[in-house]
Amino acid sequence: MQQRPGFILWFTGMSGAGKSTLSTAVARQLSPVQRVELLDGDEVRTYLSRGLGFSRADREENVRRIGYVARVLAKHEVGVITAAISPYKSSRDEVRALATQAGIPFLECYVQASLDALIARDVKGLYKKALAGEIPHFTGVSDPYEPPESPEITVRSDAETVEAGVERILDTLRDRGLLA
Ligand code: PPS
Repeated sequence: MQQRPGFILWFTGMSGAGKSTLSTAVARQLSPVQRVELLDGDEVRTYLSRGLGFSRADREENVRRIGYVARVLAKHEVGVITAAISPYKSSRDEVRALATQAGIPFLECYVQASLDALIARDVKGLYKKALAGEIPHFTGVSDPYEPPESPEITVRSDAETVEAGVERILDTLRDRGLLA
């Protein structure tokens, strides 16, 4: 397998916006031509960030840990894809700055969907509970989500297909010389 430069493709977006779907699809497309590692939010919280909750401090710590592991892997030519809500702009900017300092290309992919669409979709039933006050500090309902101001990629998951979003992400990676 020919090696390509490592990179970090950082997905951000609210719960249920489609981060896992898109990141899994991108990882599947890349894996035949590139070493890829997907750090998915749920899996990270089971292993790397076990015990952390959803306070601002805990979310920041979660993002910091994901950023660290992503940098370690990317230094070894792995294309790292992360998929955590990462709601705070300052945290995302911090991981971007650290990656950039280490010479690692960093691309932010904002998976955008309106709150109405997310509530209507509610795959995990979490919005219903959050709106009923059963989940405190729920992103977008009772906790902030700060959208990126200038992400490299924005996917409108309430207005475009997964395939179209994946194609655009791959095109962006290709344009940056990060893909075959
Ligand atoms: S963060 O903010 O980046 O640390 O969040 P993350 O590690 O991605 O975890 C988000 C998933 O945890 C579930 N969950 C919550 N999300 C938001 N707010 C609250 N209070 C909360 N409690 C549990 C939820 O299923 C998220 O999963 P996704 O995959 O994003 O839907």
